[in-house]
Amino acid sequence: LDNGLNLTPQMGFNNWNTTWCGSQFNEDLVKGIADLFVSKGLKAAGYQYVNLDDCWALPVRDLSGNLVPDPVRFPHGIKALADYVHGKGLKFGLYSSAGIHTCDVKGFPGGLGHEQQDADLWASWGVDYLKYDNCNNMGVDAQTRYKAMGDALKKTGRPILYSICEWGSTGPWNWAPPVGNSWRTTGDISDTWQSMISIAHANQGLSAYAKPGAFNDPDMLEVGNGGMTGTEYRTHFSLWAEMAAPLLIGADLRTAQQETLDILTNADVIAVDQDPLGKQGSVVSSDNGLVVMSKPLADGGRAVTLTNEGSYEATLTTTVQAVGIGGAPSYTVKDLWSKKTGISTGTISATVPGHGTAMFRVTPSTPVPPPTGMSQLSDLPFLAQLNGWGPVERD
Ligand code: DGJ
Repeated sequence: LDNGLNLTPQMGFNNWNTTWCGSQFNEDLVKGIADLFVSKGLKAAGYQYVNLDDCWALPVRDLSGNLVPDPVRFPHGIKALADYVHGKGLKFGLYSSAGIHTCDVKGFPGGLGHEQQDADLWASWGVDYLKYDNCNNMGVDAQTRYKAMGDALKKTGRPILYSICEWGSTGPWNWAPPVGNSWRTTGDISDTWQSMISIAHANQGLSAYAKPGAFNDPDMLEVGNGGMTGTEYRTHFSLWAEMAAPLLIGADLRTAQQETLDILTNADVIAVDQDPLGKQGSVVSSDNGLVVMSKPLADGGRAVTLTNEGSYEATLTTTVQAVGIGGAPSYTVKDLWSKKTGISTGTISATVPGHGTAMFRVTPSTPVPPPTGMSQLSDLPFLAQLNGWGPVERD
């Protein structure tokens, strides 16, 4: 959507993957996340939006037809909460559904037929972001429903990032780029390897549709929610960055382990997601669960992921030609997780544990003489690996 927003994929937090509609979803959580965004360096890393999901409102509109915040969860209302989040230099997001009710069984009111009234109310509260779900849509055409809210948001005059949550059911990549800033491409993620990797597969083929202002959304992050290993969460985060996906943290950061924060604040991986070219990476080879992806970057290089979807350690190898940047005399290759940098003349290779991903930033560079003496070689196992002299153990 050409509204000047989301030139790179949105980054922030949404409570759904950790609280759903449970009682933990309340003002304390949201304020706590905003505080931690500042104190734990997440804001500095680029996370900006603090977003609420389903169940923030009462089941019935007021006599004027306005949505009413749940006074138990949000005793000071939504405007006060948005003000708090803004006070931290962050942005605030809200949720509704393009239907007569949201998805929760309690039947909270949806936006269908109330588009302008709701958009005006949200704008008056200082809302910067809307996630617009697909439940209870009464069979009304998706494009009609989502465009109606997009028009209403625009009419408020407030810049509001518009996140379309239609679950990929009508091929939104074909119609949503001029309507919203992102669109879900699949059903809901859950906190398992199987769910995460099958969503990645569904989203991997859609790279042609992503561009600044309009991105495929393979759903929010599960990193830190406990259902996957650290290796699997690093794969999750690597692939989402490689696919220029929204990076919406879905864990309760108030109880997060250091490993979770380390993954979520990996500046090199975030820089891939946020690269100004705004291209989504695509699969360059997939062989028996060994999957190589390449993402064009603004500096002329590529971000390359080597994902081992199998259960046992394996060595993956690709080339600069295969990832789309052959022809230079040599390349700087940075491992974005181990932070080691080396030089390659053409091969990119890593030994990767089951369910792991090695992620590299590969940049054409000026020629560098190859190491000659053995002492240099043993000092530089990573270079040896890159030049095809033998694999190096990775953790
Ligand atoms: C379905 C969406 O896909 C989820 O992300 C979440 O917003 C729930 N609805 C809320 O009911």
